[in-house]
Amino acid sequence: MTGTAAGAGRALDAGELRELVAAAGAAPSLHNSQPWRFRSAEDGPGVLVFADRERAVPLADPDGRALLVSVGAALFNLRAAAARNGLPVEAAELLPDASGPGAPGADAPVAVLRFGPRGLPYPPAELADLIGRRHSSREPFGNRDVPEAVVGELIGAAAAEGAALEFLEEAGARRVLALTAEAEARIAADAARRAETGSWLREEPAADGIPDRALGPQDHESRVPVRDFAGHGPDRPERFEALPQVATVATAGDTPADWLRAGQAMERVWLLATAHGLRVSVLHQAVELPDTRVALRDPHAPDTPETLGTGAVQVVLRVGYGPPGTATPRRDVEDLLGTPPA
Ligand SMILES: Cc1cc2nc3c(=O)[nH]c(=O)nc-3n(C[C@H](O)[C@H](O)[C@H](O)COP(=O)(O)O)c2cc1C
Repeated sequence: MTGTAAGAGRALDAGELRELVAAAGAAPSLHNSQPWRFRSAEDGPGVLVFADRERAVPLADPDGRALLVSVGAALFNLRAAAARNGLPVEAAELLPDASGPGAPGADAPVAVLRFGPRGLPYPPAELADLIGRRHSSREPFGNRDVPEAVVGELIGAAAAEGAALEFLEEAGARRVLALTAEAEARIAADAARRAETGSWLREEPAADGIPDRALGPQDHESRVPVRDFAGHGPDRPERFEALPQVATVATAGDTPADWLRAGQAMERVWLLATAHGLRVSVLHQAVELPDTRVALRDPHAPDTPETLGTGAVQVVLRVGYGPPGTATPRRDVEDLLGTPPA
């Protein structure tokens, strides 16, 4: 469905708003914290997107970087679902640099989507059909390479959102995995951080957090530094892929608006990867410590507008072929439409 003028200019009805918000709420987020809220715009057809800072993960994410990456992923799903419903997006405003003068207050939306007759149905509507099939897969992947043509498409998907996806060559992948392993060890040695991670593990039924069944095994050869959520070491050691395929999402700047952009790019890449039968998991530990985060930048990348060689790495993804992962809990749509925090 291309959705040209079909929905132009009309108000959103309650059912449609709920449908868009449910799609947004299915996005990935740090520890499945789902730090977002939504409201219908009052001055015309549109949706206001809020960051819910009460759902922050303060030790892992003191600046709210991962929080806004997560909200960016939800914003991308909202845009894809709007495109599928034939709602042309006339304007998508991202928050201004929150550190600058005139920065929005805590209760201001971080993004606003406006639908209208002059808009385009964008991004590709068919990505919305993949939202329910995308999961984190923390299982071992096979050794099959992602084909070059698919890599090219994924790079294009990130570029369309203003971010750079880089599939790392062997030396780069090993460097990023070593930084991730170092960060994982430092995080695991910090009792407060360990407790914070553990506080997002859930018995079901639950509305957020990570159930036991979504956790994967630990790599018995330690090639893939998967996060040890349970904090008690490898109780299900298995053999992972020989050389994990690692991709980074980077942005030119490092402002809150860049974090939102990175989240939209990550989700667009992840949905398109899902369409190609690829699985994805996030290796975020090195992004959570300032020194390893800076070290993630590729020291040898050419600094061109395409590669953003000196840009800031916001997300590290492991990509490959393997089991699909499993659905995790989500908050009710009613909760997502509740009053935003004052
Ligand atoms: C910013 C960010 C950081 C994440 N970091 C990790 C991580 O380090 N390890 C991991 O296994 N999953 C990580 N995830 C994946 C989330 O745990 C996952 O999205 C969430 O539990 C919901 O599950 P789903 O992706 O299967 O829908 C991260 C996701 C985001 C958006």
